[in-house]
Amino acid sequence: MRITYRKNDSLAYWTQRWADVEADEPMENRASYPLKYALEAVARSSAPRGGRICEAGCGNGRLVRYFMRSGCNIRGFDFIPEAISKIKSVEPDAEVETGDILNLSYPDEYFDTFLAFGLYHSLPYELQDQAMQETFRVLKPGGVLCASFRADNLCTRISDYLRQPARKEEKKKFHKLNLTRREWEHVLLRNGFTVEKMDCVVNMPILYKFKCFRHATHKNFDEHKGRCEGYLLNLPGKLLWKVLYIIFGGGRCVMFLLFRLEKSRVK
Ligand SMILES: C[S@@+](CC[C@H](N)C(=O)[O-])C[C@H]1O[C@@H](n2cnc3c(N)ncnc32)[C@H](O)[C@@H]1O
Repeated sequence: MRITYRKNDSLAYWTQRWADVEADEPMENRASYPLKYALEAVARSSAPRGGRICEAGCGNGRLVRYFMRSGCNIRGFDFIPEAISKIKSVEPDAEVETGDILNLSYPDEYFDTFLAFGLYHSLPYELQDQAMQETFRVLKPGGVLCASFRADNLCTRISDYLRQPARKEEKKKFHKLNLTRREWEHVLLRNGFTVEKMDCVVNMPILYKFKCFRHATHKNFDEHKGRCEGYLLNLPGKLLWKVLYIIFGGGRCVMFLLFRLEKSRVK
């Protein structure tokens, strides 16, 4: 287990993060994280169109807006009220609300599909069981949870080293929890989930930070666009990325994605 410390704790970080950007456009690139995996989770649900879908930690709404437009029954929550207001300002009919994964207001066994990208690792290890039990409670038996978690690996260690606060006293605030694949799996199993598959995924490839590797339509760094279209690389970027993958393997991935977690019928 490794903890990433930053200048701001998770709540302060996300408050600032979502205050700084516009509401997301509905995501467009179905081949890109996280939409690609959300679609697969929905397709694997036994309920038509994923049944009642929840996006936990919906942020500024790129997935909620995508699934609304696709005619799915989706509901989202996030613990940052401003993120929710931003979604509402562009999508008044969106069923989104402020909420905390640690204490959900939904009834037991309410959702067929539960999406949670990059949320659980915002909580310290001591709160993981509470978050998982709340998730378990609101998910129907046989329901599907699709979630991504920050990996404790070479890639995140390098990234954290490069981004560590300049002054030592700033290192105090908990920012993210990093666990190995086996450790995340253990957290889920002991809370009643069956882990079907775990994949390595990357949100923004590090090469995207360099203009020379970005796709021609993404030459100006625009996170808003990247969040909607995916962080697109040009051909040299894609080739180099493949080489890095061969060299580092799973070591380069930033998150593990538990692609299909099925809530067991017996806990
Ligand atoms: C990595 S972002 C993902 C946002 C969105 N799912 C997306 O893919 O664009 C993680 C989100 O989880 C939210 N979050 C973190 N801790 C939370 C908590 N305890 N309860 C609810 N939301 C939380 C953050 O505010 C943030 O919006």
